[in-house]
Amino acid sequence: MMSFGTYKLIPESFSPIPSQSAENAVGILVGNDFSVGLDAVGFVVGPGEDLPDSTGLPTDALARVGFTGTAGETCVLPQSSGPIIVVVGAGPREDQTASVLRDVAAAFARAARRQARLGIALGTCFELDPRVLGQTVAEGVLLARYRYVELKPSSTHVDLVSLDILVAPDLADEVRAGARTGEIMARATTLARDLANTPPSHLTAADLGGIAIELGRADGLQVDVFDKQNLIELGCGGLLGVNAGSREEPRMIKLVYTPPGDQPAPHLALVGKGIMYDSGGISLKPSDPMHFSMKMDMAGAAAVVGAMTALHALECPTAVTAFLMCTDNMPGGSAMKLGDVLNIRGGMTVEVKNTDAEGRLVMSDALVLASEESPDAIVDIATLTGAALMALGTHTAAVFGNNQALVDQAVRSSRATDESIWQLPLEHRYRQQLNSEVADISNMGGKYAGSTTAALFLNEFVGDTPWAHLDMAGTMQSDTDDSWLTQGATGFGTRLLIDLALNFTDPTR
Ligand code: BES
Ligand code: ZN
Ligand code: ZN
Repeated sequence: MMSFGTYKLIPESFSPIPSQSAENAVGILVGNDFSVGLDAVGFVVGPGEDLPDSTGLPTDALARVGFTGTAGETCVLPQSSGPIIVVVGAGPREDQTASVLRDVAAAFARAARRQARLGIALGTCFELDPRVLGQTVAEGVLLARYRYVELKPSSTHVDLVSLDILVAPDLADEVRAGARTGEIMARATTLARDLANTPPSHLTAADLGGIAIELGRADGLQVDVFDKQNLIELGCGGLLGVNAGSREEPRMIKLVYTPPGDQPAPHLALVGKGIMYDSGGISLKPSDPMHFSMKMDMAGAAAVVGAMTALHALECPTAVTAFLMCTDNMPGGSAMKLGDVLNIRGGMTVEVKNTDAEGRLVMSDALVLASEESPDAIVDIATLTGAALMALGTHTAAVFGNNQALVDQAVRSSRATDESIWQLPLEHRYRQQLNSEVADISNMGGKYAGSTTAALFLNEFVGDTPWAHLDMAGTMQSDTDDSWLTQGATGFGTRLLIDLALNFTDPTR
């Protein structure tokens, strides 16, 4: 017999979390004058406003090249020595919100994409709370400069080395504190993007378990990884059923963050869908462009891991327990079949009518486990339905919930972070679409309202615990570089979940 030897798809040296392991720390300085050694300086101006005299540029010179000062408009002035100058539009004063500032900072970082050391002066624009200002500028610049280059040796991407923000001395401390928060938020998002961009054979459920343990050590989390045998003992038939057709073992990853001090703290549980690759299983997906990105079907889990890594550094006052449900969904000879019935943790049975509706199966075990801990609320995040993409496109995720106060908290965090979500109704009259002849429930609804029937399925497993569900199938990736979003995985939800945990209160009080 001919031997093919051992073919290694993944080089020994591969690190699945490149941006975390690489030395590309960004130092943020705040001062009243730019230090020497910058490669690019950005001056932010509103429509018709004057630039500082030090630039030697009268406003009409900018007008002559068509610069009008709309938000995010840029004009690059090459210099034969010293830093290049980038004039960046701020838009009209009445529109100068934090979200616009994030876009403006991102536009600057992109215009100076060949430069490593950046400085930005806001002049009299964006008179926001100085902490919000620092945070937003840091987020916009750092997120816009993200690129997944780990597997592209030919890349000419220039890593950002430093960012200076020029502000009046009396604001410096506050801006610096905000910038630190922004840097932590951006790093968490970068981790989520890296994980979701990593090819599926480079990042298995077991790999993610190992990464979570490492991250937990560095970021003050207790991490427990449950293997297949543990999951059998826990009765997690949803996760095991989806995993049945795969050669790779499943993992459930539990991360626990405990806030400092011994005061009673509110308790939030998070659940993330971690389908490392969604082939559809026996209900195989077609190889069309919509399905090229199914390595990102773990983007919910990635957002949760990312968010968890930020809590200790930000001294989050909320206790947070997270469950990540990780496996790929493959059509191997031992795969679950249409008509099979799975036993979910807690006793519910599910008839599998479509193996491609696997997300809700793995999530249901975790929702039961989460409610067993009696948290004040559960928030789950999942790339759950193509219908969410169809309904809301790539810029807005769907939110559902059984408790309006909790949904409102999520919407507030969405606004603060500019990670857009929109509430859809948990319309109970569609519940009958999930009826099964042979089990308690089936995993597939009818032709319409696919995101709602998926949410109604999840609703069955949370009991009375206040619960909100984010369906991020549409927002998991971007086709193009667009403001602080970069082409590929977006890391959507990471900052939203951090903001939610930081500001969380028991929704029943
Ligand atoms: N992972 C997909 C949902 C998805 C689609 C995410 C497009 C991102 C982009 C999910 O597992 C799935 O396949 N859902 C099915 C459910 C259906 C079979 C009931 C869908 O939405 O078509
Ligand atoms: Zn699927
Ligand atoms: Zn899926």
